[in-house]
Amino acid sequence: MDPDYTADLPHLQQAAKDHLWMHFTRHSSYENADVPIIVKGEGAYIYDAHGKKYLDGLAGLFVNQVGHGRTELAEAAAKQASQLAFHPLWSYAHPAAIELAEKLANLAPGNLNRVFFTSGGGEAVETAWKLAKNYYKLVGKPLKHKVISRAIAYHGTTQGALSITGLPGLKQQFEPLVPSTFRVPNTNTYRADSITGGLLDGSDAEAFGRWAADQIAVAIENEGPDTVAAVFLEPVQNAGGCFPPPPGYWQRVREICDEYDVLLVSDEVICAYGRLGTWFGGQKFGYEPDIVTSAKGLTSGYAPLGAMIASDRLMEPFLADGQMFAHGYTFGGHPVSTAVALKNLEIFEEEKLLENVSSNEAAFRSTLEKLKDLPIVGDVRGSGYFYGIELVKDRDTKESFTEDECERILYGYVSKALYEEGLYCRADDRGDPVIQLSPPLIVGQREFDEIEQILRVVLDKAYSLL
Ligand SMILES: Cc1ncc(COP(=O)(O)O)c(C=O)c1O
Repeated sequence: MDPDYTADLPHLQQAAKDHLWMHFTRHSSYENADVPIIVKGEGAYIYDAHGKKYLDGLAGLFVNQVGHGRTELAEAAAKQASQLAFHPLWSYAHPAAIELAEKLANLAPGNLNRVFFTSGGGEAVETAWKLAKNYYKLVGKPLKHKVISRAIAYHGTTQGALSITGLPGLKQQFEPLVPSTFRVPNTNTYRADSITGGLLDGSDAEAFGRWAADQIAVAIENEGPDTVAAVFLEPVQNAGGCFPPPPGYWQRVREICDEYDVLLVSDEVICAYGRLGTWFGGQKFGYEPDIVTSAKGLTSGYAPLGAMIASDRLMEPFLADGQMFAHGYTFGGHPVSTAVALKNLEIFEEEKLLENVSSNEAAFRSTLEKLKDLPIVGDVRGSGYFYGIELVKDRDTKESFTEDECERILYGYVSKALYEEGLYCRADDRGDPVIQLSPPLIVGQREFDEIEQILRVVLDKAYSLL
């Protein structure tokens, strides 16, 4: 039976405003407006407390791969909770964590065979940085501790992960953060001209990729190779609106990391588990990182879980007599979450979800590219079921919105209008203004068309408001 919140809705609204501290939320915007309250999910759709239906164009928050309302996942959680609700992984193990670690080791590229569970993505990023520092201390390179990451990239909100994040606007209010992180340019080919200071215009994507990767070597040289421990990069960078790697980028990054003995951390909190049509980013773009950080799609959001997957060589020094990685989380590798993840990955295989993404990604792209006839659409970019649409004021000059226009158009109109038209997705201006799309992996042409049609109406109107 569908949940009916109608009678309780006024109370829920008031209690949300009085007591619930929402994340990354301007609470002032709800002073004279209702908080959207989502009560149900079914397949690729979610429903609010009034019973209105929305296409979940963001899979929650890049999370729900298999779709909503999967009773088999709820049952896997219930079964595990009634058998063993909790036991930590601190010197003990339980079958679901063991089986999931083995499964992930089998799915991950190359020698990535050691799985450290966390509660979410930011914790996986923290864990990777701590591992990198600890590893180099154990192998006799104790100065190696610094981290390089890309401009505008988001890696989480804990103080270490936030320090690695390349978004000054998210960091300033919490400074000083953990020292020793440095930024290099990202791979926004559409803006290659301004990123390279006019050196390259992005028409030769390979040359731009080579240039961008080489900036990592420049940063390592500037900081001193003996002091740099790791480079954190997403397979396709999310913040800024989906920057795929130009051809050859990852291969050059791998070469640089090998040359300077710097660990390559592939932050796949969004990109792993089918988002790009492969299990991991390395399989999409042909590289093998030293560490993968992951979360989100691992359970499709039916329970919280993150995983750092490290290569055998990184664990080796910790296997010596008396050694340990002195790090952990009470809920990392929770029995219910790991049991849910196992069932989730089983669904991926039974329903061939990776194949669904691979065979439909070209159609997703071409459907979104139809929007390029709208003068407000500057660029459509992405990979798999992960796309960003950059909005511009002037397509010829690529002129972006002013701060005021972002407020008025992006937040004041586009965000609300998309939702009102029945599409839940995200309008974001952490870089240039973009619409972010990341639907559940079960969708196909029908949903692509629905996304395109709603975007067309809303973006067309948005341009007229400029
Ligand atoms: C690339 C990346 N890393 C880390 C994180 C942080 O994950 P969490 O919110 O689970 O801590 C995110 C979250 O969106 C992310 O996209």
